[in-house]
Amino acid sequence: MSPLQDWPVQQEYDPKNMPFRRLGPSGLRVPVFSLGGWLTLGGSLIGDPVKDIIKAAFDAGINMFDTAETYADGKSEEEMGRVIKELGLRRTDLIITTKLFWGVGRKGPNDGGLSRKHIIEGTRESLGRLGLTYVDVIFAHRHDHNVPMEEIVRAFNYVIEQGWANYWGTSEWTAREIEEAYHVATKLNLIAPIAEQCQHNMFTRDRPEKEYHHLYKKYHLSTTVFSPLQFGFLTGKYNDGIPEGTRLAQHTEQFHTLLKDLETPSGKDKIRKIKELTKLAEEELQTSMAVLALAWVAKNPNTGTVILGASKPEQLVENLKALEIIPKLTPEILHKIDKILANTPEALPSHGRPALDRFGRI
Ligand SMILES: NC(=O)c1ccc[n+]([C@@H]2O[C@H](COP(=O)([O-])OP(=O)(O)OC[C@H]3O[C@@H](n4cnc5c(N)ncnc54)[C@H](OP(=O)(O)O)[C@@H]3O)[C@@H](O)[C@H]2O)c1
Repeated sequence: MSPLQDWPVQQEYDPKNMPFRRLGPSGLRVPVFSLGGWLTLGGSLIGDPVKDIIKAAFDAGINMFDTAETYADGKSEEEMGRVIKELGLRRTDLIITTKLFWGVGRKGPNDGGLSRKHIIEGTRESLGRLGLTYVDVIFAHRHDHNVPMEEIVRAFNYVIEQGWANYWGTSEWTAREIEEAYHVATKLNLIAPIAEQCQHNMFTRDRPEKEYHHLYKKYHLSTTVFSPLQFGFLTGKYNDGIPEGTRLAQHTEQFHTLLKDLETPSGKDKIRKIKELTKLAEEELQTSMAVLALAWVAKNPNTGTVILGASKPEQLVENLKALEIIPKLTPEILHKIDKILANTPEALPSHGRPALDRFGRI
């Protein structure tokens, strides 16, 4: 048995046709599609259904799993850890990521945030729930304006030095906050964050495509994209109402703003766009709206991994068809998509000089 795990390996990892990309400036290779546990693993799914989904993902070449201390108040980490062991997955085959910020249910002044105290205690508690000795990447789930950046950077470095995580990253931080973390890390000769976990989908583009633009070039940052289907909206299943049993039907309070938006002219315009994109997906690529939306995010060169969410193994199998569509997204098709979406973030001004890509090429 490996010193990294105390359970027997029962299943060998086969990457199938999954492409891998380097995560940010690090040497870590992540699959283009990974699986996350928000609202599903340990939440709407408990017991065997969690195992079925993780097994379906692993069998399809997904070896990266994302969770957070706050998901289902710690149950997401518990379920993920339990299933990894029950399926007998080899720890070194896996990339496990978790996130700290909101704590787990308790309301004490130090039960969340990014103080050194919560980063260290929160990491140890997450590892306890996962039943693992380390995670691969630990993310600051949000920025904490009440903690000095030096304390945050030093605490994540301590976590790495202890061997509790291999890398650290940020989630939904502004470009300025990420850049400050880089500067503090560089000044103190410490390890900087390697990735930003942000929302990126056809309707949420400004931050990943514009605000972070210079970070990709200067620091080779990449993203671990969340909600690539905008919570399921980009499958087209909400075009004619809210079907029973879906995420928006089950979590009306949490998705209150999105549900309200669907009634407004802007929401109706989004549905019109989804219908046009569905037509393009079916007629030009012989695929579904969901698959097109996922391939579109994965096609972005700054995307490290697209974290899929799924409430059923069949959704996962359908969504992974995106791997075949990525190479079919030619500049012409991408241009047609941009025209339908009509929300391409404005490029930064180059004042008449030709713009360069993240590798400094014209
Ligand atoms: N860092 C952060 O702040 C943050 C925030 C959010 C999420 N995340 C991470 O990102 C992961 C993915 O986010 P997400 O779950 O919001 O992703 P998403 O892809 O936008 O939504 C996933 C949901 O859409 C529905 N769906 C997926 N595929 C479908 C298909 N083919 N047909 C019909 N419905 C389909 C399912 O919901 P139903 O079947 O229930 O309707 C599924 O649970 C999370 O699990 C979490 O790990 C991170």
